[in-house]
Amino acid sequence: MNKPLIIFLTGTAMCLMIGKLSPGSSTPAGSRRASVGATAGEEHVKSPSPKDVSQTNKATNSEIEHGRYLVEEVAKCPECHTPRNERGELREDAWLSGATIWIRPVAPIPNWADHVPAIAGWPSFTEAQGERILERGTGPQGEELRPPMHIYHMKHEDAKAIIAYLKSLPRSSQTN
Ligand code: HEC
Repeated sequence: MNKPLIIFLTGTAMCLMIGKLSPGSSTPAGSRRASVGATAGEEHVKSPSPKDVSQTNKATNSEIEHGRYLVEEVAKCPECHTPRNERGELREDAWLSGATIWIRPVAPIPNWADHVPAIAGWPSFTEAQGERILERGTGPQGEELRPPMHIYHMKHEDAKAIIAYLKSLPRSSQTN
């Protein structure tokens, strides 16, 4: 017999022994699989995973990232909630810190708002009020929102992600 074959056979024998010796008390005898390989696989899957803890933190980060994506790339909140410099560009140093409205309707709309509040750091509302604004399209007390603020009917997860992102931003000290 050559050496690799002996090593292979010894290995197989040891695997079989470990399979027989491993405690299977938690598994009902009837449901045990015939093959040793399958049993070993099952026990590996059952072992508690330390990954579970870090996945909770990751979910929070991905929620914030999803909120940032919705705010910056989909709903475009900064277009109104961020002031502009003299060249008309959004000011990154005053991100979402409130602004004077820069768009006007062609035909007059009586309740058109001229001021857009700060939302960076989520300074003025509770989370429940924010969810009402973004999910039902009404003000924090259920009142009508003045245009051009959009009447959003967002999914709960999206509204939550947006609020999580806005809360993660520093509050602005400037008043616009
Ligand atoms: C087209 C401009 C525009 C966009 C885009 C916009 N807003 Fe507004 N937003 C406003 C204006 C104007 C107001 C003030 C409304 C008022 O006074 O009733 C406002 C008010 C708010 C308020 C306060 C509501 C209140 O009753 O005081 C919150 C919170 C808010 N916006 C969040 C957001 C978020 C989050 C986004 C993006 C998902 C967004 N806004 C996108 C213009 C806009």
